[in-house]
Amino acid sequence: MTSFDGETTVLDPIERASRDEIRALQLQRLQWALRHCYEHVPDYRRRFDEAGVQPDDCRSLDDLARFPFTTKEDLRRTYPFGMFAVPRDQVSRLHASSGTTGRPTVVGYTEGDIDTWSGLMARSIHAAGGRRGDIVHVAYGYGLFTGGLGAHYGAERLGCTVVPVSGGMTERQVQLIADLQPRVIMVTPSYLLAIVDEMERQGVDPRTTSLRVGILGAEPWTEDMRREIERRTAMSAVDIYGLSEVMGPGVAVECAETKDGLHVWEDHFLPEIVDPQTGDVLSDGERGELVFTSLTKEALPVVRYRTRDLTRLLPGTARTMRRMERITGRTDDMIILRGVNVFPTQVEELILRTGGLTPHFQLVLARPRRLDEMTVVVEARADATGDAAAMGGRLAASIKERIGVTVQVDVVQPGTVERSTGKAKRVVDRR
Ligand code: DLL
Repeated sequence: MTSFDGETTVLDPIERASRDEIRALQLQRLQWALRHCYEHVPDYRRRFDEAGVQPDDCRSLDDLARFPFTTKEDLRRTYPFGMFAVPRDQVSRLHASSGTTGRPTVVGYTEGDIDTWSGLMARSIHAAGGRRGDIVHVAYGYGLFTGGLGAHYGAERLGCTVVPVSGGMTERQVQLIADLQPRVIMVTPSYLLAIVDEMERQGVDPRTTSLRVGILGAEPWTEDMRREIERRTAMSAVDIYGLSEVMGPGVAVECAETKDGLHVWEDHFLPEIVDPQTGDVLSDGERGELVFTSLTKEALPVVRYRTRDLTRLLPGTARTMRRMERITGRTDDMIILRGVNVFPTQVEELILRTGGLTPHFQLVLARPRRLDEMTVVVEARADATGDAAAMGGRLAASIKERIGVTVQVDVVQPGTVERSTGKAKRVVDRR
């Protein structure tokens, strides 16, 4: 493959392997993973025994459906290290997931796991359009969150020059971009917008910076948001997905050449889509909850982990590995307003289609009387000329028409909606 600058780059052969080769490798690795869990994690052994299945019962990939699911609750119940499959002295790194309620979940990595993760992040950055020699500005948070260090190790592995900025201090982010001239930025889409706003505030045209590739994820975002980012900058904006329990960023990524959904790195993670209510396995193409089984993880292997993320599986395009459609939302982010299901991404889409509004928004839920009410608090564009009430009325009308719910819209001054330096907080529940 020849990239934009004429440099010849080589893909890992598995990225172009036939479906048969991929499935054969998956089965072999799956059998190892199930045995690894059964032999080293008492909790898996007990739950497999209760379900009446043994690792040897897995003779084809379809047999996986006979094994029990693993949930965040299982990780909480065994907090902190109960699900680890290696002695603690073989765990070289811990991270923790960003749970907003209850105990966090702690995840662990052997040296081998870190090596696999770095390799998959290097593969992901490359697929997204990053190249050896690029300067990569990492604005995902460093720390217990997997975003910063995951991006960091992957970019180093690819042979890039990494700038480990982490999230926050937005003025300094802009300064560093101007001074160090990164070609790639890795950041949540909502914080990228905050950085772009800050450039404009400083009088820098975001289209004139050195940035050409944005590798954006860790939160749901929409095609309309991609268009907004690509319109305001000179970047190609690419979606990256992952979760701590399964590894961190780099479980799936879009390819720069197609940007048509995220290729799952199926040589390490086996995806399934299940009905969120019944747990029944759905066919490729059907929408449901994404479930992952890790095929190579040593420290914290997961069997049929319920992500709560909603999507569907599609055939491969730029790679032979299957794609997952952009995540529309999480089962636990879904707002049920007077019987209608509402996802924040649906509102984001309509905001971006309403002139004069920015995608800085929050959905505030309240129960002033007996019924739930939702207010969309959204910022006007700094250059908006229209009347705030009229813009709000147009958004409320399109939400009523497209989603089917009546909401209040509050158009506020630029800079008023709470900014996050990582994942945006879209729902404020005051009920
Ligand atoms: O957010 C890992 C990550 C870091 C992914 C940097 C991409 C970039 P957690 O904090 O454990 O891990 O949160 C995982 O975030 O189950 C999804 O609900 C959501 N999420 C992650 N990536 C995307 C994405 C990291 N591209 C949870 N689109 C997941 C939509 C995403 N949601």
